[in-house]
Amino acid sequence: MKPIIHLENLRKQYSYYKKQPGLWGSIKGLFHREELFVDAVKGISFDIQPGEFVGFVGPNGAGKTTTLKMLSGILYPASGDVDVLGFKPFERKTAFQKQFALVMGQKNQLWWDLPPMESFLLNKAIYEIPDDLFKKNLEELSELLDIKDILNVQVRKLSLGQRMKCELVAALLHSPKVLFLDEPTIGLDVVSQNAIREFLKKYNQEKGATIILTSHYMQDIRRLCNRVIIIHHGELLYDGTYDALHTKYSDSKTLEFTAVEEIPESELLKFGTEIKIKNKTYSVEVPREKTAEITGKLLEKYTVDDIIIHERDIEEIIGEIFISKKMRD
Ligand SMILES: Nc1ncnc2c1ncn2[C@@H]1O[C@H](COP(=O)(O)OP(=O)(O)OP(=O)(O)O)[C@@H](O)[C@H]1O
Ligand SMILES: [Mg+2]
Repeated sequence: MKPIIHLENLRKQYSYYKKQPGLWGSIKGLFHREELFVDAVKGISFDIQPGEFVGFVGPNGAGKTTTLKMLSGILYPASGDVDVLGFKPFERKTAFQKQFALVMGQKNQLWWDLPPMESFLLNKAIYEIPDDLFKKNLEELSELLDIKDILNVQVRKLSLGQRMKCELVAALLHSPKVLFLDEPTIGLDVVSQNAIREFLKKYNQEKGATIILTSHYMQDIRRLCNRVIIIHHGELLYDGTYDALHTKYSDSKTLEFTAVEEIPESELLKFGTEIKIKNKTYSVEVPREKTAEITGKLLEKYTVDDIIIHERDIEEIIGEIFISKKMRD
């Protein structure tokens, strides 16, 4: 099958001017400015097939947003090839604009002083969405995201989670085939994060939309993406399944629980390693494949108030892959 997104050796460099500190520095800067460069994306290649839901992850400053901006045509690549839906995004053809959407959790695309409905109507005009499709999509999306009651409330009065849901509706009214999501769950509480996750999962499955999602929350990636692409310092570090990533780099999980009784370290060592004890909260590292079995045993033996299973942090895993790659190079 022909990929819907194709990147080959894509690069982007930003240039900026070094600013001297203080007022005098600013004045001097008017006459002489030192130009500096940062290589944000250093030759990334990958293909994405129609209908895939791909997690695009990496630490702060890795180049994720820059890549998504090049895929959306907001930024012009320095070199390399980029093709989305058969278009060169930077040409910004109307036919291309009508088939994709970019949602940024850190940026407001809705009109702040108006109710979301007004922004939706504006998008209807911009994307030339026919009346019946607009009505159908609005009905369906606002039902799924449970925002019917707030369609006419000024955006500035909405909570962060409500606003994010409206951002998603605004982005999806024109039925885009490709969706770029840049941290859509950032700063949301667990309930809203879950609601958005469930919605995205359904949207991908039912509409067959192709989605690239960046997130610093491992849960988002784990629940939604079969495939994970990791970048670090603008370079591709990993491209493969979520499961393979975890089996290879994270063969343990941490159980953290609170129990009514005092449990000595020697007892906990029977269950796992890396024991931590603080008041009556205990933490034990256990082999990944034995998590369920050991959790069961703990619950049987002790009066457990609360138990949380921690996955290894994506940032930790990335650090490890990065180091092992550098050692190989
Ligand atoms: N407009 C700009 N001018 C100069 N440098 C920039 C600009 N935008 C981003 N950069 C730099 O490019 C690099 C990549 O930034 P980018 O925003 O793509 O990272 P990111 O992976 O999205 O990070 P985060 O997880 O923090 O959102 C960083 O070093 C950043 O400082
Ligand atoms: Mg970013």
